[in-house]
Amino acid sequence: MSKVKIGVFGVRRGSVVIKYCRTQSDAQLVAVCDSWEQGLTDMKKELGEDIAYYTSFDDFINHDMDAVFLANYATEHAPYAIRAFEKGLHVLSEVLPCQTMKEAVELIEAIEKSGKIYAYAENCCFMAAPYEMRKLYRSGQLGELEYGEGEYLHNCESIWPRITRGDKNHWRNNMYAHFYCTHSFGPFIHITGLRPISVTGFELPFNARMERMGAKSGSAGLAIITMENGAIIKNINGVGCSKNSLWFSIYGTLGRAESAREDSQYGMYSRIFTNLDRYEGECFDRPNTYCPGADQPSPAQKWGHGGGDYYIMHNFVDRISGNTDAETIDIYEALDMFLPGMFAYRSVLAGGIPVNIPNLRIPSERDRWRNDTWCTDPAVAKDRLVPSYSKGNPHIPDETYQRVYEKWLKG
Ligand SMILES: NC(=O)c1ccc[n+]([C@@H]2O[C@H](COP(=O)([O-])OP(=O)(O)OC[C@H]3O[C@@H](n4cnc5c(N)ncnc54)[C@H](O)[C@@H]3O)[C@@H](O)[C@H]2O)c1
Repeated sequence: MSKVKIGVFGVRRGSVVIKYCRTQSDAQLVAVCDSWEQGLTDMKKELGEDIAYYTSFDDFINHDMDAVFLANYATEHAPYAIRAFEKGLHVLSEVLPCQTMKEAVELIEAIEKSGKIYAYAENCCFMAAPYEMRKLYRSGQLGELEYGEGEYLHNCESIWPRITRGDKNHWRNNMYAHFYCTHSFGPFIHITGLRPISVTGFELPFNARMERMGAKSGSAGLAIITMENGAIIKNINGVGCSKNSLWFSIYGTLGRAESAREDSQYGMYSRIFTNLDRYEGECFDRPNTYCPGADQPSPAQKWGHGGGDYYIMHNFVDRISGNTDAETIDIYEALDMFLPGMFAYRSVLAGGIPVNIPNLRIPSERDRWRNDTWCTDPAVAKDRLVPSYSKGNPHIPDETYQRVYEKWLKG
């Protein structure tokens, strides 16, 4: 079988594709695009001349390839995905799927028109513990969803110079607190297949850490999300709290499953704790813990993010190669993961009232949102611009960005 030819847009996170193509036999890296010339030069030194290198997307998109991996700015995936679909390419999109509701509608319609594969690269769904929760849920061992909690708290202060390069316009410095919500909330959609229907948002305050980083939002966004069966998920994500947490807990009518807390130093998202009844009403404590899959050799074991990076790539390539059962995350599922964050912040801006989450699977619902450019990026939002922080954007002096830039240069 011929290899799937993949192009990478964005060198830093694009390293996932490079690793995949080096170690697996079903895909080949053929082109890389990034306007950051130093990054591209470094990649050329590493990968050699067999691959084509571009600084312009307009040239890159004309390269002979089957698929693109979008690892460009998180706020700009949708317009580039649409251009790839217009060229007849398959798309693997990094998080997040889009920036505005207008883009969400346009992206859905471009995918439907093209008939090509769109896969959303939410790697946390494929980490061992949340993936085991999916197996327990889908096999009926957890019962019906009643409650869940997801946390993605990443104190990014030490890596901020590397990931923003002191650019005050970088998306990470301008996103609202709830924007990057799918690492913590996405697994609940993938585990249960239930749709989120409404959300109430809360915002942690802007703090001294965010100020030092040059990031303008609250330090984290909290969302209380109601699912279609009435269950509630509490989701928190942010880059400005003091300590890290990537943690999942799910309660069904038959019991509970959760991953290990970071500070327990006991495997984090690779370990699961379960306490499951055999039938509803049994009320018998049967605590258990294990690391799912750890005893079986798997190509995913040496991969980043608990093996999740391997599965998002492998399943995408497998799907393109004709396996219609390959487990990828389509655009409707991706939006069920993302829109609760966007609408949580809308809830915050509306004073903390619950707001409904649209279901864009229904074509008639799309018209209401077709022209909605609500976001924090002035060039995209135009008259629908909202601040990155609900109390108004804090003033951050240019010297802060200069200091972050100098730290990045020093390495
Ligand atoms: N799933 C995960 O665990 C994970 C981890 C890190 C980053 N990400 C995602 O990966 C993506 C990339 O993040 P990052 O931190 O690697 O980099 P980034 O967002 O800082 O930069 C993206 C890169 O794309 C290039 N780029 C952007 N627009 C371009 C254009 N029009 N033409 C040419 N080049 C362009 C930039 O020069 C830059 O090198 C983001 O969407 C982010 O959300 C995901």
